[in-house]
Order: sequence, then C-alpha cells, then structure tokens
Amino acid sequence: MTIDPTRPDAAALAAGVAAQPGRVRPRRIRATPAMRRSVAETRLHPADLILPVFVKEGLTEPTEIVSMPGVLQHTRDSLRRAVAEAAAAGISAVNLFGVPAVRDAVGSGATDPDGVLNRAIADVRAEVGDALVVQADLCLDEFTDHGHCGVLAADGSVDNDASLLRYAEMALVQAEAGAHMVAPSGMMDGQIAVIRDTLDAAGRPDVGILAYSAKFASAFYGPFRDAVESTLEGDRRTYQMDSANRREALREVELDIAEGADVVMVKPAGPYLDVLAEVAAMSTVPVAAYQVSGEYAMVEAAAANGWIDRRRAITESVLGIRRAGADQVLTYWAVELAHWLREEWR
Ligand code: PBG
Repeated sequence: MTIDPTRPDAAALAAGVAAQPGRVRPRRIRATPAMRRSVAETRLHPADLILPVFVKEGLTEPTEIVSMPGVLQHTRDSLRRAVAEAAAAGISAVNLFGVPAVRDAVGSGATDPDGVLNRAIADVRAEVGDALVVQADLCLDEFTDHGHCGVLAADGSVDNDASLLRYAEMALVQAEAGAHMVAPSGMMDGQIAVIRDTLDAAGRPDVGILAYSAKFASAFYGPFRDAVESTLEGDRRTYQMDSANRREALREVELDIAEGADVVMVKPAGPYLDVLAEVAAMSTVPVAAYQVSGEYAMVEAAAANGWIDRRRAITESVLGIRRAGADQVLTYWAVELAHWLREEWR
C-alpha cells in the first residue's frame, strides 16, 4: 500500500508513518493460536462450572422448557442420569430446583422430607456421592401458591421474619436429605445468620451456605419462571435489589459474609459485571455468578435464527463472567461447555 503521490497531503502522511516506527506492537502477541493461548489472562476450566437443574414432581417423561431450548424439567430417573453425566463432564457442582405438584400459602412442600426437592437431593447424593457438590435452592417461591419467596403477612406483604422461620426448617430438611450446600435465594434480611445458627444448633456445621447476596429484581429471570411454573403475579421488588444499585450490593455481601456465608453470589451475571468485579475485589470468600435463564435464552434464540455463532457466544459470555472476577459460574451450559473445554485440551 503506497500513498497516492498526487494527494496534497502525501508528504505529511508519509512523514507520519515514518514517525511511527511501530516499536510498540501489541499485535505481536495475537499472531498465532499458540501465542494467544500462552498470553491468555483468564482460562475456563470445567471445575469453574455449576449446573442448575430442575426436577418436577410426578413427571413421567423429561420435558423441554419452551423458553429454554435444550434445558429439561427432569423426572426422578432422568435427573439421576443428568447428574451422572455432569460428574463425568468434570464440572464441580449441581444446583437443584424442585417443581412441586401442589402449592400452598406457606410452601409446605419445601419442608416435607418427601417433597420433590428433598427427594431429589437424596436421589442425587445416592447417584454421585461426593463426586459433585450437591447444592439445593433454599427458597419458597416454587412451593407457595402465591409464588413469593417468603410467606405473606395479613396485608399481603412478604413477611421477612416469618419467612426466616420457614427457611430455617427448610435448611434442616435439606441437610437431612444430603445437601452439601444450601443456597438461600429469597433475599430476606438475616437469612444467612438464621440458617447458619439453625444448622449449627442441629449439629450440622458441615453444611455450607451459598448466599445469593446481590440478587437483583431482574427481567432476565423470565424463562426460569416457566421452568418452575411460577404462579407469581406482580414482582419481587420489595426484597430483590434494584438494578440501579452497586454500593448496596457490597453492603449485602458484607452482611452475608459476617453472617457466615461460605460463598457469595451476584445474580444475574452479564448485566451486572461491574458489581461482580467490585464484589470479587472485596470478598474474603469465593464469589459465584449466576448466568440466568434470560441470558441463556437470548443466546439460544439468536443462535437458532443464525444471528450469532452459538459456541463462540457461549464461551465468550462465560469467559467474560470469569474475567470480571467470578470464581464459580452457574450456567445452564455447564456440561456442554465442559465437554468443549476438554475437547480443546486434546
Ligand atoms: C428463586 C430463584 C429464581 C432464580 C433462581 N432462584 C427466580 C426469581 O428470583 O424470580 C432465577 C434463575 C434464572 O433465571 O435462571 N428461587
């Protein structure tokens, strides 16, 4: 490429290029795949990944969730196969959600040892033992007929302290069923302290707590509500965080660590990478991020239309979450991504 000598500014352009000898050439380290690999600052490993799984009471065939193509509501049997596959893929944990057949005002199914989630915990432990960390969602929303994460006061508001009593009981039943970690996602104040105290008093200091510390009231949970057949009308803005807030997230994390959280979480992940980076900078415990159903659905929908390269978009989205500072990523792509990562090492 030469400069057109008839241009009036030809001499100035040539002088400009000559004055830039290009000694500083960051492109050098991007020249080959091996070069790029050797300077990569962030790596993905199957052990970073946690798979959320849904199991539905009374289901006879696994059923695909319409708004989450590729994600299933499991039967008891297909759940066992799915977690065995997850363990074989080398991911580190599964996070279980139950969809009960019957719901009531206080979410009785959540504390019934024969309830769908508690049976699933026991089934999964029987299948994988300690090969995976078995985590259980500790929240009432799947079990209440009104769909809120807690129980309601007479005026219809979500009653914080009455909900804590239910969470305490839930923690005990989940521990008894075999959960290694309980994952309170209801955003009630004081939930970590109450659950920790309850487990300790019951002689279960071995059960850990993954705290959904900075959980935002998000539109990106839309497909999840299909996955658990949510009955919620209205929203969760009186207990989940406002999207506008960053500093408040740090306060929530600080409180949860003080109350005994073993791992703290930011959720959703993609739209809150700034919050995640700040939490990662200040947290003294491992930090998880949840790439939620809407983040999943967006990529799947675009890929299905041929608008985006599915594999590259998935890998990039999870890498971004890791780069922002997450130690663990909960993602519906965990097993598929783990297979890709293993393929790349071959
Ligand atoms: C509440 C819970 C939700 C999700 C995880 N736990 C839904 C909500 O808060 O409305 C969302 C996860 C996702 O969207 O993938 N038990």
